[in-house]
Amino acid sequence: MTEHVAAGFGRPGERLLELTGVTKRFGGLTAVSDVSLALDAGEVVGLIGPNGAGKTTVFNLVTGVYQLTEGAIRVTGRAAAGLTPDRITALGIARTFQNIRLFREMSALDNVRVGFNLSNNYGVFAGLFRTRKMREREAFVEAEAMKLLHTMGLGDLAHEKAGGLAYGPQRRLEIARALATGPRLLILDEPAAGMNPQEKDELAKMIGEIRRSFGLTLLVIEHDMKFVMGLCERIIVLDYGRVIARGTPDEIRRDPAVIAAYLGADEPVPESAPELGQASASDASRAEVAS
Ligand SMILES: Nc1ncnc2c1ncn2[C@@H]1O[C@H](COP(=O)(O)OP(=O)(O)OP(=O)(O)O)[C@@H](O)[C@H]1O
Ligand SMILES: [Mg+2]
Repeated sequence: MTEHVAAGFGRPGERLLELTGVTKRFGGLTAVSDVSLALDAGEVVGLIGPNGAGKTTVFNLVTGVYQLTEGAIRVTGRAAAGLTPDRITALGIARTFQNIRLFREMSALDNVRVGFNLSNNYGVFAGLFRTRKMREREAFVEAEAMKLLHTMGLGDLAHEKAGGLAYGPQRRLEIARALATGPRLLILDEPAAGMNPQEKDELAKMIGEIRRSFGLTLLVIEHDMKFVMGLCERIIVLDYGRVIARGTPDEIRRDPAVIAAYLGADEPVPESAPELGQASASDASRAEVAS
């Protein structure tokens, strides 16, 4: 790969992320309660649970969007408390959002460029006079951004406005932009939401490919059981902010506490069920933009 795009996760087995007794309260509501979990380099872990279980809040705590109420988070061994989202990005964590956040008026290519330029720092003079170094850097970024777009199946859409893309390509574009920051750990919040079954299969393949080629570690929130259980080696289940189960996909499917949390019934968790919050029109209506 390149100087900028992830050069791999380093030592296999290195602890990339560790949450210890993490609690987040919003006023009287405890959204995340005493959650401990760890991710080692190279793992692919799913975080599942019913709507409102606290999954996105965990991601927001890990990425510095929210501050902890109690507990500790360590990123590559360093205490992450109080770090801003851009510092967390610099430590090698990138994410996508449940509610897609793209610059809608910008092209797909420019959205990915933004990811590269998060770490870009030209001096004032370079900005005024467009030094040769700056032009070289721009050409490099454009070529790398195009490679990422191709990787995510978006090569032909590079010059389309992000806001004009269909839902599936928008989600893939968010992944391309996240990859541009050179992450070691990529965390995806409902990457398959709003996609049809064929798009989900293609996405699963792409995620497998980027995992291998970028040496990524992955933490994935997803309601589609077939998708998440096919992708992840290990799954952690949240309910009402607490971890209620951990295990392999097979163990999780048969876990009575998980079955009760999802269905309130004594049946195995189905591979896909609308009541698990599967992709639906409401996902599309949640799409929003921060630009
Ligand atoms: N900024 C906030 N202020 C107040 N309450 C919040 C905030 N963010 C999340 N919550 C609440 O915390 C709880 C957990 O929300 P969270 O979004 O983490 O759930 P989730 O597991 O991601 O659910 P979903 O599957 O629906 O996305 C919910 O009750 C939610 O309303
Ligand atoms: Mg969520």
